[in-house]
Amino acid sequence: MNTIGKEYIEPKEEYYAGKIADRFIQTLAKYYRSEKVKRMFHPKMHALLKAEFIVEASLPPHLKEGIFAEGKTYDAWVRFSNAKRKATKDKKKDLRGMALKLVGVEGKKLLEKEKDANTQDFLLVTSKTLQTASVKDFQRSIEALLGGFIKLFFYAITHPAVIVRSIKMISKCSNLLETSFYSMSPYKYGEGKAVKYAAFPQKKTTSSFPKDPSDDFLKERLISDLEEQEYSFDFMVQFQTDAQKMPIENPTVKWTSPFEKVATIKIKKQVFNSKAQESYGENLSFTPWHCIEAHRPLGGANRARKTVYEAIARFRRGQNHVENLAEPKSMVSFNEVN
Ligand code: HEM
Repeated sequence: MNTIGKEYIEPKEEYYAGKIADRFIQTLAKYYRSEKVKRMFHPKMHALLKAEFIVEASLPPHLKEGIFAEGKTYDAWVRFSNAKRKATKDKKKDLRGMALKLVGVEGKKLLEKEKDANTQDFLLVTSKTLQTASVKDFQRSIEALLGGFIKLFFYAITHPAVIVRSIKMISKCSNLLETSFYSMSPYKYGEGKAVKYAAFPQKKTTSSFPKDPSDDFLKERLISDLEEQEYSFDFMVQFQTDAQKMPIENPTVKWTSPFEKVATIKIKKQVFNSKAQESYGENLSFTPWHCIEAHRPLGGANRARKTVYEAIARFRRGQNHVENLAEPKSMVSFNEVN
């Protein structure tokens, strides 16, 4: 019988995580021989936006944990992205990412080399679930995906459920400011409690899908919407209330407990598309392990991400000669016209 909030580590997980990292680095080295190296997934950045992360002032005791212990406003960056490996046209089905970086978060951080950083990241996507249950399964699916047509074909006929789940994860998106995002994987929420995260847009009306969409219409909509006014998302937590039906170790399973609001993400009215701000966004590193202990990432997918994101960010920044970038200590302002 599983216990709430408890992890169950499978044998050889580190080995599989290492293989995933090696495979990604080989792939990036091949893709970007002479160009600047982009992210392995989520390479297409729609925007890096300035935001405020406003923790609710009077949360009930069960929600008062970690950064949510008291009402407070943090400055934050929000990076919106398309997940596909190669930058794709926005009209295509895809998984979209919302990566949040809160700046000014006190307390020791989990990554040994960045324990004094004052950032806390939350990584969310437009799917509630991942396609594979374990790190080993994830590694197999990555080998198939990156291993050429024949490997992918044999994988598809022997693992139809993974293929179906992968297809269900992607969807069309007409406006990022009207889209819901989910963490897929679980996180600690103080001692002996686990949650998944979500961000729900406060704007309920749905933009229609453009009749003749440009390749970058999601960014164009962000530019025009945010020139006019601010937009907000409710940041939610969903507790693990049943350790068997809502497992920590299998992110293919959708949790069914209610979402509870703990904060507001307020994306300010802004002009954001300067070259300098875009380049800053490209160079930032988001990982769920930029984190305090109270919100420690849980489960195999998250444990693998510790190895993988760190290795990839190091490789990407090394190739692009920006290896000395530290986590931001404060928000930076950019000239809007450069
Ligand atoms: C389980 C839930 C997951 C979520 C919610 C998630 C979400 C994201 C997001 C939002 C980004 C873009 C971050 C940015 O804007 O910089 C990202 C990047 C990435 N993800 Fe995930 N991801 C998940 C699982 C995984 C897993 C299991 C792996 C592989 C082990 C993985 C590998 C990567 C890689 C390699 C990148 C690019 C990192 C970089 O180049 O710096 N992700 N992910």
